[in-house]
Amino acid sequence: MTTVTERDALRDALGLLRDREQVAERLLESSAKHSFDPDKELDWDAPAEDGKWFWPPELLSLYDTPLWRKMSEEQRMDLARHEAASLASLGIWFEIILMQLLVRHIYDKSLTSSHVRYALTEIADECRHSMMFARMIKKGGAPTYRVPRIYHNLARVLKTVSTTPGSFAATLLGEEILDWMQRLTFPDERVQTIVRGVTRIHVVEEARHVRYAREELRRQMVSAPRWERELTRVSCGEAARVFATCFVNPQVYENVGLDRREAVAQVKASGHRREVMQSGAGRLTEFLDDIGVLNGVSRRLWKSSGLLA
Ligand SMILES: [Fe+2]
Ligand SMILES: [Fe+2]
Repeated sequence: MTTVTERDALRDALGLLRDREQVAERLLESSAKHSFDPDKELDWDAPAEDGKWFWPPELLSLYDTPLWRKMSEEQRMDLARHEAASLASLGIWFEIILMQLLVRHIYDKSLTSSHVRYALTEIADECRHSMMFARMIKKGGAPTYRVPRIYHNLARVLKTVSTTPGSFAATLLGEEILDWMQRLTFPDERVQTIVRGVTRIHVVEEARHVRYAREELRRQMVSAPRWERELTRVSCGEAARVFATCFVNPQVYENVGLDRREAVAQVKASGHRREVMQSGAGRLTEFLDDIGVLNGVSRRLWKSSGLLA
């Protein structure tokens, strides 16, 4: 015979599963209507346009610093081209990690559920995105920028052992801040057509990914055991620090003829940059706070990442 508490727990669990299926069904419907093949959708043969930016200037790390004011317009535009390549490289790194997390997430789940079918749809989206970003980097003629070796290897471990809520919290971190920047990039007429096309496709498809990850993380923060929730708080705060460190590869400064150390120091001291990064993270930190991921320790880690005021 089941007790009242057991019955309540069972009812809650069934409710969560039903909710999970409903969310996935809506996302599948939307994917069927609004998905893109970047190879066909975008004109990859069109030459780069003179006088257009590869990234909006206000979103560049050095914008409005003393160094920025000394740079020529040509050097600023060159920095935009390299930072766009750096962000696209970071995007590919994240997406490859995410694909593995999603594969691990569905490994034990019902193969015919909508939740699993949507995860597979998202993996297919991310495959196209990573190919699209790689094409964009090549098109701009800037190099691929890898994250520092230590973080590359740290992520190798994390993507293999992370818990479900930890995985979804890291996913949101990777998706939401870049998404915020891309929402400002695709409508911007000063920006190269190809970059606008890439960011437009990404924003449309990414909105579903954010929804999927948010809803799953919200459920996990209700149903996961206490130790897992605690671990999620700490690992998410630590991930925010790594993310902020890796966001722009400092090699970009050297590649446009600037002093790397000086540039890094000025970015660190820049009030404008801090504001940009905190605005980009705003929607996410508000959500994490709402579902109980931002407590004492993790809040401190988030603050030290510079992403939270
Ligand atoms: Fe993506
Ligand atoms: Fe995504």
